[in-house]
Amino acid sequence: MTALQVQEFEKIQDPNVRQRLDVDGPEIKDYLNGKMEYILNHRAVQHPLLNYYRKNAFTKEQEKKFYLETWYYFKNEPFYITSMAVNTRDYKVLKEIILNVYDEVAGKVTHETLFREQLNAMGITDEEIANHQCLPSTTAINKGAEKLYCEPPIERNLGAFYADETMSAVLSTQFNDALLNQGYDKNVRKHWIMHVNVEISHSNNAFNAIAPYLVNQEGRDLFEEGINTYLQLLETYWDGVDAIVRG
Ligand SMILES: [Fe+2]
Ligand SMILES: [Fe+2]
Repeated sequence: MTALQVQEFEKIQDPNVRQRLDVDGPEIKDYLNGKMEYILNHRAVQHPLLNYYRKNAFTKEQEKKFYLETWYYFKNEPFYITSMAVNTRDYKVLKEIILNVYDEVAGKVTHETLFREQLNAMGITDEEIANHQCLPSTTAINKGAEKLYCEPPIERNLGAFYADETMSAVLSTQFNDALLNQGYDKNVRKHWIMHVNVEISHSNNAFNAIAPYLVNQEGRDLFEEGINTYLQLLETYWDGVDAIVRG
Protein backbone atom coordinates (compact mmCIF):
# COMPACT_ATOMS: atom_id res chain seq x y z
CA MET A 1 0.00 0.00 0.00
CA THR A 2 1.32 3.45 -0.90
CA ALA A 3 0.77 5.93 1.91
CA LEU A 4 1.47 8.97 -0.25
CA GLN A 5 0.93 9.82 -3.90
CA VAL A 6 3.15 11.88 -6.22
CA GLN A 7 0.37 14.52 -6.45
CA GLU A 8 0.78 15.27 -2.75
CA PHE A 9 4.30 16.52 -3.46
CA GLU A 10 3.10 18.54 -6.48
CA LYS A 11 -0.04 20.32 -5.31
CA ILE A 12 0.92 21.99 -2.08
CA GLN A 13 -1.72 24.11 -0.32
CA ASP A 14 0.16 24.80 2.90
CA PRO A 15 2.24 28.03 2.60
CA ASN A 16 4.80 26.62 5.02
CA VAL A 17 5.67 23.73 2.72
CA ARG A 18 8.44 24.24 0.17
CA GLN A 19 6.96 24.10 -3.33
CA ARG A 20 8.50 22.51 -6.35
CA LEU A 21 10.00 25.11 -8.70
CA ASP A 22 9.12 25.11 -12.40
CA VAL A 23 11.43 22.88 -14.41
CA ASP A 24 12.55 23.23 -18.03
CA GLY A 25 10.08 21.17 -20.01
CA PRO A 26 7.64 18.46 -18.88
CA GLU A 27 10.05 15.61 -19.61
CA ILE A 28 12.28 16.25 -16.58
CA LYS A 29 9.25 16.57 -14.33
CA ASP A 30 7.84 13.27 -15.65
CA TYR A 31 11.22 11.63 -15.15
CA LEU A 32 11.42 12.84 -11.52
CA ASN A 33 7.81 11.80 -10.87
CA GLY A 34 8.61 8.35 -12.27
CA LYS A 35 11.56 8.04 -9.88
CA MET A 36 9.32 9.20 -7.05
CA GLU A 37 6.76 6.49 -7.88
CA TYR A 38 9.63 3.97 -7.82
CA ILE A 39 10.82 5.20 -4.39
CA LEU A 40 7.29 5.31 -2.91
CA ASN A 41 6.62 1.70 -3.91
CA HIS A 42 10.07 0.23 -3.20
CA ARG A 43 10.18 -2.63 -0.65
CA ALA A 44 12.64 -0.57 1.44
CA VAL A 45 9.91 2.08 1.84
CA GLN A 46 6.87 -0.24 1.96
CA HIS A 47 8.76 -2.65 4.18
CA PRO A 48 6.75 -5.56 5.69
CA LEU A 49 7.88 -4.56 9.20
CA LEU A 50 6.59 -0.99 8.77
CA ASN A 51 3.28 -2.10 7.33
CA TYR A 52 2.95 -4.63 10.16
CA TYR A 53 3.75 -1.98 12.78
CA ARG A 54 1.04 0.34 11.41
CA LYS A 55 -1.64 -2.17 12.42
CA ASN A 56 -0.05 -4.19 15.22
CA ALA A 57 1.19 -2.97 18.58
CA PHE A 58 4.76 -3.79 19.60
CA THR A 59 5.57 -5.09 23.07
CA LYS A 60 7.76 -2.78 25.17
CA GLU A 61 10.76 -4.97 24.36
CA GLN A 62 10.10 -4.84 20.59
CA GLU A 63 9.54 -1.10 20.80
CA LYS A 64 12.88 -0.54 22.53
CA LYS A 65 14.83 -2.56 19.97
CA PHE A 66 13.02 -0.85 17.08
CA TYR A 67 13.56 2.72 18.27
CA LEU A 68 17.15 2.30 19.45
CA GLU A 69 18.12 1.06 15.98
CA THR A 70 16.15 3.89 14.37
CA TRP A 71 17.96 6.38 16.59
CA TYR A 72 21.33 5.19 15.26
CA TYR A 73 20.07 5.14 11.70
CA PHE A 74 19.10 8.85 11.77
CA LYS A 75 21.96 9.98 13.98
CA ASN A 76 24.04 12.81 12.44
CA GLU A 77 21.92 12.99 9.28
CA PRO A 78 21.75 16.86 9.19
CA PHE A 79 25.56 16.97 9.25
CA TYR A 80 25.75 14.57 6.32
CA ILE A 81 23.20 16.58 4.32
CA THR A 82 25.17 19.76 5.01
CA SER A 83 28.33 18.10 3.68
CA MET A 84 26.82 18.00 0.18
CA ALA A 85 27.32 21.75 -0.02
CA VAL A 86 31.07 21.40 -0.55
CA ASN A 87 30.43 19.39 -3.72
CA THR A 88 28.74 22.26 -5.54
CA ARG A 89 29.24 25.94 -6.37
CA ASP A 90 25.61 26.31 -7.45
CA TYR A 91 23.79 28.76 -5.14
CA LYS A 92 20.41 27.26 -6.06
CA VAL A 93 21.51 23.88 -4.74
CA LEU A 94 23.04 25.50 -1.66
CA LYS A 95 19.72 27.22 -0.94
CA GLU A 96 17.80 23.91 -0.98
CA ILE A 97 20.37 22.30 1.33
CA ILE A 98 20.24 25.24 3.75
CA LEU A 99 16.41 25.29 3.83
CA ASN A 100 16.43 21.59 4.61
CA VAL A 101 18.99 21.73 7.38
CA TYR A 102 17.43 24.90 8.81
CA ASP A 103 14.27 22.86 9.53
CA GLU A 104 16.35 20.23 11.31
CA VAL A 105 18.31 22.47 13.64
CA ALA A 106 16.96 26.02 13.79
CA GLY A 107 13.64 25.61 15.60
CA LYS A 108 13.13 26.06 19.34
CA VAL A 109 14.63 22.60 19.71
CA THR A 110 16.32 20.45 17.07
CA HIS A 111 14.49 17.53 15.47
CA GLU A 112 17.03 15.28 17.17
CA THR A 113 15.82 16.58 20.54
CA LEU A 114 12.18 16.03 19.55
CA PHE A 115 12.93 12.43 18.64
CA ARG A 116 14.87 11.90 21.88
CA GLU A 117 11.85 13.28 23.78
CA GLN A 118 9.65 10.69 22.06
CA LEU A 119 11.97 7.86 23.07
CA ASN A 120 12.15 9.17 26.64
CA ALA A 121 8.34 9.45 26.80
CA MET A 122 8.12 5.78 25.76
CA GLY A 123 10.45 4.82 28.60
CA ILE A 124 13.72 4.58 26.67
CA THR A 125 16.32 6.41 28.73
CA ASP A 126 19.26 8.57 27.61
CA GLU A 127 21.55 5.99 29.18
CA GLU A 128 20.03 3.20 27.09
CA ILE A 129 20.46 5.36 23.98
CA ALA A 130 24.10 6.13 24.83
CA ASN A 131 24.99 2.49 25.61
CA HIS A 132 23.19 0.83 22.71
CA GLN A 133 25.31 -1.25 20.32
CA CYS A 134 23.48 -1.15 17.03
CA LEU A 135 23.29 -3.82 14.34
CA PRO A 136 25.97 -3.92 11.60
CA SER A 137 23.21 -3.13 9.05
CA THR A 138 22.32 -0.01 11.06
CA THR A 139 25.96 1.12 11.12
CA ALA A 140 26.04 0.36 7.38
CA ILE A 141 23.18 2.72 6.54
CA ASN A 142 24.51 5.45 8.81
CA LYS A 143 28.01 5.27 7.36
CA GLY A 144 26.63 4.63 3.88
CA ALA A 145 24.52 7.80 4.06
CA GLU A 146 27.56 9.76 5.24
CA LYS A 147 29.51 8.54 2.22
CA LEU A 148 26.63 9.09 -0.20
CA TYR A 149 26.24 12.69 0.95
CA CYS A 150 29.92 13.58 1.43
CA GLU A 151 31.60 12.19 -1.66
CA PRO A 152 31.17 13.96 -4.99
CA PRO A 153 29.61 14.19 -7.49
CA ILE A 154 26.60 16.27 -6.46
CA GLU A 155 24.27 14.34 -8.81
CA ARG A 156 24.80 11.16 -6.78
CA ASN A 157 24.45 13.10 -3.50
CA LEU A 158 21.13 14.45 -4.72
CA GLY A 159 19.91 10.98 -5.73
CA ALA A 160 20.40 9.81 -2.14
CA PHE A 161 18.77 13.03 -0.91
CA TYR A 162 15.69 12.55 -3.13
CA ALA A 163 15.29 8.92 -2.01
CA ASP A 164 15.90 9.74 1.66
CA GLU A 165 13.50 12.69 1.87
CA THR A 166 10.73 11.11 -0.21
CA MET A 167 10.97 7.98 1.92
CA SER A 168 10.89 10.12 5.08
CA ALA A 169 7.51 11.58 4.07
CA VAL A 170 6.11 8.03 3.93
CA LEU A 171 7.91 6.99 7.11
CA SER A 172 6.37 9.87 9.07
CA THR A 173 2.89 8.63 8.17
CA GLN A 174 3.82 5.01 8.95
CA PHE A 175 5.26 5.89 12.38
CA ASN A 176 2.40 8.22 13.23
CA ASP A 177 -0.20 5.58 12.27
CA ALA A 178 1.62 2.92 14.28
CA LEU A 179 1.89 5.07 17.40
CA LEU A 180 -1.73 6.16 17.07
CA ASN A 181 -2.82 2.52 16.69
CA GLN A 182 -0.94 1.79 19.89
CA GLY A 183 -2.80 4.57 21.69
CA TYR A 184 0.02 7.10 22.07
CA ASP A 185 -1.16 10.68 22.42
CA LYS A 186 -0.21 13.70 20.31
CA ASN A 187 2.61 14.59 22.62
CA VAL A 188 4.42 11.30 21.96
CA ARG A 189 3.60 11.51 18.24
CA LYS A 190 4.48 15.21 17.76
CA HIS A 191 7.83 14.52 16.05
CA TRP A 192 6.07 12.49 13.34
CA ILE A 193 2.89 14.60 13.03
CA MET A 194 5.10 17.63 12.27
CA HIS A 195 7.27 15.63 9.87
CA VAL A 196 4.50 14.62 7.44
CA ASN A 197 4.55 18.12 5.93
CA VAL A 198 8.21 18.83 6.65
CA GLU A 199 9.35 15.78 4.66
CA ILE A 200 7.24 16.78 1.66
CA SER A 201 9.09 20.12 1.83
CA HIS A 202 12.38 18.23 2.00
CA SER A 203 11.58 15.99 -0.95
CA ASN A 204 10.75 19.16 -2.89
CA ASN A 205 14.11 20.64 -1.81
CA ALA A 206 15.77 17.64 -3.48
CA PHE A 207 13.52 17.93 -6.55
CA ASN A 208 14.45 21.60 -7.01
CA ALA A 209 18.16 20.98 -6.49
CA ILE A 210 18.51 18.09 -8.93
CA ALA A 211 16.19 19.12 -11.79
CA PRO A 212 18.78 21.25 -13.70
CA TYR A 213 21.30 18.39 -13.55
CA LEU A 214 19.12 15.87 -15.37
CA VAL A 215 19.51 17.20 -18.89
CA ASN A 216 21.87 14.40 -19.94
CA GLN A 217 22.15 10.66 -19.40
CA GLU A 218 25.35 10.99 -17.38
CA GLY A 219 23.58 13.13 -14.78
CA ARG A 220 20.66 10.69 -14.66
CA ASP A 221 22.91 7.64 -14.22
CA LEU A 222 24.65 9.23 -11.22
CA PHE A 223 21.34 10.40 -9.75
CA GLU A 224 19.88 6.88 -10.07
CA GLU A 225 23.02 5.38 -8.52
CA GLY A 226 22.41 7.60 -5.47
CA ILE A 227 18.75 6.57 -5.26
CA ASN A 228 19.47 2.85 -5.62
CA THR A 229 22.42 2.73 -3.24
CA TYR A 230 20.37 4.50 -0.58
CA LEU A 231 17.35 2.20 -1.04
CA GLN A 232 19.54 -0.89 -0.92
CA LEU A 233 21.06 0.19 2.41
CA LEU A 234 17.58 0.97 3.68
CA GLU A 235 16.11 -2.39 2.68
CA THR A 236 18.98 -4.22 4.43
CA TYR A 237 18.54 -1.95 7.46
CA TRP A 238 14.81 -2.77 7.85
CA ASP A 239 15.44 -6.49 7.24
CA GLY A 240 17.98 -6.36 10.10
CA VAL A 241 15.56 -4.57 12.43
CA ASP A 242 12.76 -6.98 11.46
CA ALA A 243 14.96 -9.96 12.37
CA ILE A 244 15.48 -8.70 15.93
CA VAL A 245 11.97 -7.27 16.44
CA ARG A 246 9.77 -10.01 14.94
CA GLY A 247 12.39 -12.77 14.63
FE1 LIG B 1 13.55 16.29 10.74
FE1 LIG C 1 13.86 15.42 6.00
